[in-house]
Amino acid sequence: MSNKPPLTGDFPLTRMRRNRNDDWGRRLVSETRLSVNDIIWPLFVIEGNDVSEKVSSMPGVEKLSIDRVVKAAGQAVDLGIPAIAIFPNTDAKLKTPDAVEAFNPDNLVCRTVSAIKSAHPDIGIICDVALDPYNSDGHDGLVREGKVLNDETVDVLCKQAVVQAKAGCDIIAPSDMMDGRTKAIRQALDGEGFQDVRILSYAAKYASAFYGPFRDAVGSGGALKGDKKTYQMDPANSDEALREVAMDISEGADMIMVKPGMPYLDIISRIKSTFAMPTIAYQVSGEYAMMHAAAANGWLDLDLAMMESLGAFKRAGADAVFTYFAPVVAKKLLG
Ligand code: PBG
Repeated sequence: MSNKPPLTGDFPLTRMRRNRNDDWGRRLVSETRLSVNDIIWPLFVIEGNDVSEKVSSMPGVEKLSIDRVVKAAGQAVDLGIPAIAIFPNTDAKLKTPDAVEAFNPDNLVCRTVSAIKSAHPDIGIICDVALDPYNSDGHDGLVREGKVLNDETVDVLCKQAVVQAKAGCDIIAPSDMMDGRTKAIRQALDGEGFQDVRILSYAAKYASAFYGPFRDAVGSGGALKGDKKTYQMDPANSDEALREVAMDISEGADMIMVKPGMPYLDIISRIKSTFAMPTIAYQVSGEYAMMHAAAANGWLDLDLAMMESLGAFKRAGADAVFTYFAPVVAKKLLG
């Protein structure tokens, strides 16, 4: 993509509509294309066997027991989806102020990851690193006297990353927005012999209203005291995202995440053109819910909106997109 203005002629010698006249012609000059290789499927896991629970604010999305997540991973393999991301719905009884369940090697995420790995060794597995599924405060970090602690949290995140890597996680994705965690996690992984485990850092994660349905799905919303503005970014900021990304690259990030997605396409575009890093976007729960709700009212065509929204990520410069539409869009892309 060039930043220079394109050369154009004047009407009527130049008619922009000429190239749009027919389907073959439009296909010929189309600049970006979404492929199944660009899709990452986020999956919610719950305890139990052969059970699923609907997520009411996310039509079509279910929380699945481990055996069913393994089946979904098989479906992803069949569809050619390269990677899945695992999010646990942790039993409220296991949530504590010190979030120790995060680094229990036998926690729900670790059991899920090893079950998927042994059934489907060739799919990429991404695990979130943050304490919100385990913290009774609902925050991504440890809280003391109402403050979210940075350095103490990073120590716990390192332990969490190591147990996830031991379980077979391929990509560790810190979504917590603590300072310095990328480097600390890189060193912790290397120290345990996991040099090849990748880090996808949520470098530019905003304090957004669009995470609501996700917090319902993982059960962290009710627990959350206050908001996440002392660690997640201010939606007003763009230069700050570049500084976050620069730091994470210097700390050893292999890939960069921008989140949410659609309201932040400008951020994706700036990051991609500035750093030329593998750049991944997250079409978050609220974006998905919004499109479904509008479609349910007959206000937009869900299929078209899904394809257009995902195509927009590619146009903005994203290499891949986390999306709850993953299996639906993959089937569509495969025709
Ligand atoms: C938590 C986390 C969140 C999401 C992914 N990891 C929510 C939050 O920060 O509160 C949101 C995903 C979505 O909305 O789909 N660390």
